[in-house]
Amino acid sequence: MTRILGIESSCDETAAAVVADGREILSSVVASQIDIHRKYGGVVPELASREHLRQIVTVVRAALSQAGMKLGEVDAIGVTQGPGLVGALLVGITYGKTLAVALGKPLVSVNHLAGHVHAVFLEAFKAGRVAKLPAVCLIVSGGHTVLYEVTAGDSDRQDLGGLLRYRKIGQTRDDAAGEAYDKVAKLLGLGYPGGPILDRLAAVPNGAPAPVKFGPTKTRGNPLDFSFSGLKTAVLYHVREHPEYAGEIQTREEALQRGERKFEQLLPLCSPQTLALVREFQSAVVRDLVERTMLAAEQLAVESVMVSGGVAANSQLRTTFEERARNMGIEVFFPSRALSTDNAAMIAAAAYERFRAGIFADSSLNADPSLALA
Ligand code: KG4
Ligand code: ZN
Repeated sequence: MTRILGIESSCDETAAAVVADGREILSSVVASQIDIHRKYGGVVPELASREHLRQIVTVVRAALSQAGMKLGEVDAIGVTQGPGLVGALLVGITYGKTLAVALGKPLVSVNHLAGHVHAVFLEAFKAGRVAKLPAVCLIVSGGHTVLYEVTAGDSDRQDLGGLLRYRKIGQTRDDAAGEAYDKVAKLLGLGYPGGPILDRLAAVPNGAPAPVKFGPTKTRGNPLDFSFSGLKTAVLYHVREHPEYAGEIQTREEALQRGERKFEQLLPLCSPQTLALVREFQSAVVRDLVERTMLAAEQLAVESVMVSGGVAANSQLRTTFEERARNMGIEVFFPSRALSTDNAAMIAAAAYERFRAGIFADSSLNADPSLALA
């Protein structure tokens, strides 16, 4: 059994995990910095690095103790090299390197996006399912919205046997979908991060008609490319043109100031019109993500679709994908909510694949904020 300690620090989560043979999660610890960045309405890079520094030792220790292991029993250390915030990445990389040298264990660098792909395999393994390759994978988070074709690569095994190969087939031309959620929530006075609260508000039964309709987003050129900044701007203009929103937005902002940011606290402060607006926004995002991903699946004639990243936690996205996939005879795979957002189990799982292929990093490993997967 190969037990890999994974370390993740690319954005605003300090995470460590131990995964056995790339598939069994022995522990997974995530320290979120949401409370620190909330008052700025987004991740502040300098604060993120400092917080990673404060958390990393505790988080790694907690991951080891949860797995019932000592540092010396780890077989290798996997660490996120990029993409992400340079200062944040450097904290994990420096710690990972130091551990590897001190323990005399191999160091494996991991692409964060490959980690998100492996989150899907981890979950499938737990559920006793196999995601058949080639597959189309949508990674959709606060920082990324990108479509890959994932093939089995060097091995004829259809699971984690060989190095996976990635081909980028579409990506956002402007905002990531999660970023659109966060910006729309901010302008509506619904706090940060926007995804979870908008997800729940959109699901509230409400008979009000949509106060504005958002049609399908047109992108010239590659039909598999996404664009979300137009939608966010459309919400902004709609709100500006309708002064009746101003009062409730202010009321909610005051509630947020008092720390009342829970769904149950904000729901009574939302008019039916606002709930209908949120529902229309979410429907537009979900429709766009599902349509383009399923178009890719059709074009490439794949049997599986994988969806990962923070926005993959969205309830409507999950049910819509499942419905569409069922109708098309395609299997769709999501990580659990905990594995959808940033975590280190996915990093340890991705590291295992490289470990087996003998791809190791040395002490010259550096952060690569724009590291590409393909
Ligand atoms: O993967 P993640 O934890 O970090 C990044 O790499 O960005 O994703 C965070 C993003 C945020 O933009 C957040 O608003 C969004 O994922 N998110 C959601 C939901 N939960 C988190 N978006 C829509 N619906 C959700 N339930
Ligand atoms: Zn991520």
